[in-house]
Amino acid sequence: MIFNDKYTKQFVNKKEIEAIKPFVEVADKMLDDKSFLGSDFLGWMDLPKDYDKEEFERIKKAALKIRKESKALVVIGIGGSYLGARAAIEFMLPTYYNQTNDVEVYFVGTNMSPNYITDIYNLVKDKDFSVNVISKSGTTTEPAIAFRIFKKLLEEKYGEKEAASRIYATTDKKKGALKTLSDKKAYETFVVPDNVGGRFSVLTAVGLLPIAAAGINIDDLMNGANQARIDLSNKNFFENDAMKYAAIRNILYRKGKDIEIFVNYEPRLQFIAEWLKQLFAESEGKDLKGIFPTSASFSTDLHSIGQAIQEGKRNIFETIISVDNVINDIVIEKDEEDLDGLNFLAGKSLDYVNKMAKKGVVLAHVDGNVPNIEISIDKINEYNLGYLFYFFEKAVAISGYVNGVNPFDQPGVEAYKKNMFALLEKPGYEEETKKIFERIDN
Ligand code: PA5
Repeated sequence: MIFNDKYTKQFVNKKEIEAIKPFVEVADKMLDDKSFLGSDFLGWMDLPKDYDKEEFERIKKAALKIRKESKALVVIGIGGSYLGARAAIEFMLPTYYNQTNDVEVYFVGTNMSPNYITDIYNLVKDKDFSVNVISKSGTTTEPAIAFRIFKKLLEEKYGEKEAASRIYATTDKKKGALKTLSDKKAYETFVVPDNVGGRFSVLTAVGLLPIAAAGINIDDLMNGANQARIDLSNKNFFENDAMKYAAIRNILYRKGKDIEIFVNYEPRLQFIAEWLKQLFAESEGKDLKGIFPTSASFSTDLHSIGQAIQEGKRNIFETIISVDNVINDIVIEKDEEDLDGLNFLAGKSLDYVNKMAKKGVVLAHVDGNVPNIEISIDKINEYNLGYLFYFFEKAVAISGYVNGVNPFDQPGVEAYKKNMFALLEKPGYEEETKKIFERIDN
């Protein structure tokens, strides 16, 4: 992985880096010492080395079983129990992979749209399929509803016993409704460790089982993450990309750049951006502060939000994630008639054109006062993906500490749930129900 801060230099000078460096070093030390806010949730730090090896083998076995007996896998989860797996699968498999992969993968539990759920239901009902239901708490409403629906479908299709052998539950070791249900029905279960929060859980069974079931090599994924763990434990600030990234982000933030756009020129990175949005927003957006993360896919978004990036309010910076080498390239051929006027590109590859577009965009945006950071990997593979996952986890943890917040909690996620439960008259919410209806009716 290469971290390139060349296009931040005109916005962030050396003196500013020197000034913030000690704070970044202290933040990094607080993580190592497990001495600051959220220190009970630092299990992700050593995960690539100290993961549960016995469970890892069980994950691989379960993945093989799913691949052998199912044409489709329904993955049920939301937030941290969803985004990592989807990011990895969309990155590693060909575009529209459900039309070509041995096992189709469908994600539900991320919304409560009956249209969406019915669409997936109809796609899998006549196929052999398995379910991986994932919820750390075991009580999140959206995935719980989806699980009830797909569990019933499995039971009707295969009978209760075989259905149970096709259900894999990833949840807390001891508690929660999903754990109780899994024990009662004898589902194979996998654990979300207590000390790993949802958005930091992609390298636990939460991400690993669906990723492996999709046919992706999870050994290489862990090896890449472990290399990042080693590289990013370097205490020399100038040799540690996570520290440098955290420093630059915080300097830009203090200068009013409070929106970070994760940019890609490769559609396979789109869900990595979704994973990043959750990781950064839930880790940093609290106590009335934090950089707001968003994403853009270029060229698509150059023809929409590109206008605002170039000329709108100057409170943004971009972090480009790029892949240097493509899997397949296409050479643009000469056309005798040249009616489309494209012969000036004849003989050039599409990847070359894409790269020239990127260079042009970076210069235009920097000229428009938008700092650009670039994080690149040489190619699409599991190792590099594992490296990226760990890099961003470490960077956001340091960055949150530098900004004085607990990067490992997400209290703001509860507010909507409280209102929703009150409106749905959930037992235990009687008082809130009364109040919320009074508020709505008046
Ligand atoms: O980062 C987080 O902790 C959240 O986004 C959770 O992952 C999300 O709310 C899902 O929670 P659970 O796995 O308990 O169903």
